[in-house]
Parts: sequence; structure tokens; C-alpha cells
Amino acid sequence: MRAVRVKSFGGASVLGVDEVDEAVAGAGEVLLRVVGSSVNPVDVKTRDGVFAGTGELPATLGWDLAGVVIEPGDSGLEVGARVIAMSHQLATGRGTWADVVALPHSAIAPAPRSISLVEAGTLPLVGLTALQTLEWLAVAEGERLLITGAAGAVGGVALQIAHAKGVKVDALVSSAAHIEFARNNGAELVTTDRAELKAYDAVFDTFGAFVTDAVVDEGRYASIATQAGPVPDLSARNVRTTVNQVHESGTDLRKLVSYVDRGAVRPRIDSSYGVQDVQAAHRRFEQGGLAGKVAITL
Ligand SMILES: NC(=O)c1ccc[n+]([C@@H]2O[C@H](COP(=O)([O-])OP(=O)(O)OC[C@H]3O[C@@H](n4cnc5c(N)ncnc54)[C@H](OP(=O)(O)O)[C@@H]3O)[C@@H](O)[C@H]2O)c1
Repeated sequence: MRAVRVKSFGGASVLGVDEVDEAVAGAGEVLLRVVGSSVNPVDVKTRDGVFAGTGELPATLGWDLAGVVIEPGDSGLEVGARVIAMSHQLATGRGTWADVVALPHSAIAPAPRSISLVEAGTLPLVGLTALQTLEWLAVAEGERLLITGAAGAVGGVALQIAHAKGVKVDALVSSAAHIEFARNNGAELVTTDRAELKAYDAVFDTFGAFVTDAVVDEGRYASIATQAGPVPDLSARNVRTTVNQVHESGTDLRKLVSYVDRGAVRPRIDSSYGVQDVQAAHRRFEQGGLAGKVAITL
């Protein structure tokens, strides 16, 4: 079977599509044929060697997966069932950019019925990050939430989920080009000017903006920008802070799927590449100015 691997760290040219031994499911695992996936910032950082030392080389890359069940094991899933999953590639070494992948049943959920598997393959990592961070923030209907980077991949899904929950969401975006997307997906105030941001019950910071003056005393502030370091200490104002880390969860994926099948979360694809063109997919991703995810198809 094919797998996208790195044997040394560097630019997009270190990505190889290699023939490797077919994956085999262990106890509690399900064997899956991959149909769709996508590029996330972590894949590029892993390829570059930002996390060198955390895993072995060669390494198969990829976190997102949409595909079909080949061997269900004792999961209760049917052979041929359409599923999605997120694999924490950094923690486990199980990359999803391969024809066949074995993953724990607990990381898998039935795929959305309303979209294709290629579209579904763009959602697991960003969707779980959005859901799990919103759950940490515990934003309730009627509360005021600020999302920084709200037109980005995680920010865009978080915006749609929060809007569907009845939360009042404002958005900080990088440029005027992103304003329409944020407005169309439920944001009230959309701005590029940090000075306009005030009195939020909760802040979901996707890029390390650290707009800490924008959160109310006794509010909540979650960043997902691990590379930007910790959120400044706001304990004197009784603001709870975290740098949230996404984790595998079939249960949370089911919640994401229900938002998708209600039409509340819509996949947004900038471009799509066959796995043989994975180097081009990375180059497109790194070029920036994306209007959605860079999909990878197998
Ligand atoms: N902790 C975790 O578990 C976890 C999980 C997933 C992702 N992440 C990290 O979270 C970050 C976001 O991921 P993503 O996939 O959503 O990336 P993304 O699609 O690139 O989104 C980032 C967004 O932030 C915007 N932005 C950047 N600098 C800005 C600025 N100075 N002012 C306003 N907006 C700005 C970007 O706008 P432009 O595109 O115009 O620059 C983009 O819309 C990445 O660093 C990723 O590695 C962490």
C-alpha cells in the first residue's frame, strides 16, 4: 500500500509516496481504507522537524481520516461503513496519509451523511479542536465569545458551532478579505482592529493574539497556538486560561457530525490534491491566502 512518509526533515520535497507493508489491526482496532484527509499546520511542522525527537523516522504523516471500514474487529461497525477519525499522529506515530490505516475504535465515528468523504476528511482535526476548546470555554447561549483567526480552519468551524449554540460571536480576522466569510458564518462584529475588542465572557484564540484586555474579569481565555507559548497569567483578574490540546475522541466526532448533518457546520475546501501530489498540496498550504482546507484524496 502507499503511505506518505518523511525520512528526513525539511521542505515539501522530503515528502515521499512509498510502498510499505499493509497495515494490520491490533486488539481494539478497526482497519480502514482511507478516502479523504487534509493538510493541517501540524503536518507541516512535523515535516519541517519542529517536533524532531518526539517520534521515529521514517514517519507516516496525517491526522485527518474519512474512509470505509475494511475489518471492524469487535467495534460493531459494518464492513463498508463510512467513517471519520482523527489520529494523534504526533503521540502515536499512526499517520493517516496511507491507503489503509488501523485505528482504535474509540477514535472513530460514523461519517456525516450529508457530505462526501473527501469533504468529511477535512473536518476531524479542526472540528475536534473547535469542539473541545469550546467545551473548555463552556460558552453558553447568550454569552459573548471572541474568536481570533475566525476565518482560519479551526476558527471557521468554531464560529459555526458557537453560532449554532446561540452564542454571540465576534471575530478578529487578519484582513478585509476575510470579513465576508466571518459575517456569513455567524459573527456579529468582524474586525481587523484589536482596539474594538472589549468585554467578552470567553476568548478562543487560534493564533496567539493574546488579546487579554478583551476578556472580562472572571472570564475564560483559551489559546490553541501551542507554538506561541502560554497565555499570560490572568489569575489576578480571576480569568481562567489554558493552551488547549486536541485529543482523539469518537464521542466528540459524533457531536461534530451532528452539526454537519444539520447544516450548521459546512466544509470549506480551498483545493484538493491526489496523494501522489502531496508535495504540491504542502506547497499550496504554505503559500497562504487559503479559502478553506487543502484536501488530500487517496
Ligand atoms: N493545540 C491544539 O490542539 C491545536 C489543534 C489544531 C491547530 N492548532 C494550531 O492552531 C493554529 C491555527 O490552526 P488552523 O488550522 O486554524 O490554521 P489557519 O487556518 O492558518 O488559521 C489561523 C488563522 O489566524 C489568522 N491570523 C494569523 N495571524 C493573524 C493576525 N495577526 N491577526 C488576525 N488574524 C491572524 C490567519 O489569517 P491568514 O490566513 O490571513 O494569515 C488564519 O485565518 C495553528 O498554529 C495550529 O498548529 C493547535
